[in-house]
Amino acid sequence: MRAAIEIEGLTKTYGAGSGSVTPVDGLSLTVASGEIFGLLGPNGAGKTTTIKMLAGLVFPSSGSASLLGNPVGHVQTRVRIGYLPESISMNTFMRAAEYLDFHARLYGMGAARRRQKVADVLEQTGLKESAESRVRNFSRGMMQRMALAQAIINEPELLLLDEPASALDPIGRRDLRDIIIRMRNRGTTVLINSHLLSEVEMICTRIGIMNRGRLIRIGEMGAIIRPVQVVDVKTDGLSAEAMASIEELAAKVDFLAGGSFTAMLGNDEEIARLVEIITTSGAVLRELSPRNMTLEAAFLEEIAAAERS
Ligand SMILES: Nc1ncnc2c1ncn2[C@@H]1O[C@H](COP(=O)(O)OP(=O)(O)O)[C@@H](O)[C@H]1O
Ligand SMILES: [Mg+2]
Repeated sequence: MRAAIEIEGLTKTYGAGSGSVTPVDGLSLTVASGEIFGLLGPNGAGKTTTIKMLAGLVFPSSGSASLLGNPVGHVQTRVRIGYLPESISMNTFMRAAEYLDFHARLYGMGAARRRQKVADVLEQTGLKESAESRVRNFSRGMMQRMALAQAIINEPELLLLDEPASALDPIGRRDLRDIIIRMRNRGTTVLINSHLLSEVEMICTRIGIMNRGRLIRIGEMGAIIRPVQVVDVKTDGLSAEAMASIEELAAKVDFLAGGSFTAMLGNDEEIARLVEIITTSGAVLRELSPRNMTLEAAFLEEIAAAERS
């Protein structure tokens, strides 16, 4: 299938020398046409900088990106893309319907089409009753709905959403989810940035996890939200041989000093097997505390731990 987004070695560095920062560091990623892709990662990971480079608002230091088969900035492609920014400012005296009509006009839509599209997106985003209210008086959640209405008014083939659910209440999240599903059913490709998966992002087909400007994991949605058991273990006298067996059993293990370790396991049977390895090796099992979490939570915890050390 044709790629909707192709990112190759994309890098952004601000400043020079010792004071420079590189929020996006050699990022490569391909999103196929029709996919709903979730870019996940903690605050500061570089998600917003990435999406701003795709939207043409931040100029890359190196690397390249193309959208719908054309390089970023291609004028004719621009009208085929929708973008919802992370920080929304709509300091306008315009009323909601008027504001959206203004944007539809920028896309070159005729009067009849504009009237129909404005009514349509106000309905979809749950703002129908506020059509004649001034946008500047809207709450943060309503502004986010407005920004979404603006992002989809041109029926984009590619939709870029930066933390779209952040200010929304549960009804807003449900509406957003419905909109994304509707767009997907029409063949729109969607890229969603998020610092934590909400039920909205649970509709993603694939997820990439970003940290410090790099993509550290990428996988199918089902693999990322699959339940895992993370166990914290304290032992005495754990042999090198036992450690090797544990490494073989666990999806991931971090040995700490003094016979303690944290292991990521798939299920209860693997925990039982872990206990067996420890006890038959002659080591003493002092403590074992399992924590039920999803792989997403485990990744985020892993990143947080790496940042602390
Ligand atoms: N204009 C800028 N000048 C300097 N640093 C910036 C600028 N924009 C973003 N950064 C830095 O880049 C890092 C990544 O930011 P961002 O892309 O917003 O991450 P995320 O969206 O994943 O939270 C942050 O540490 C941020 O301070
Ligand atoms: Mg961000």
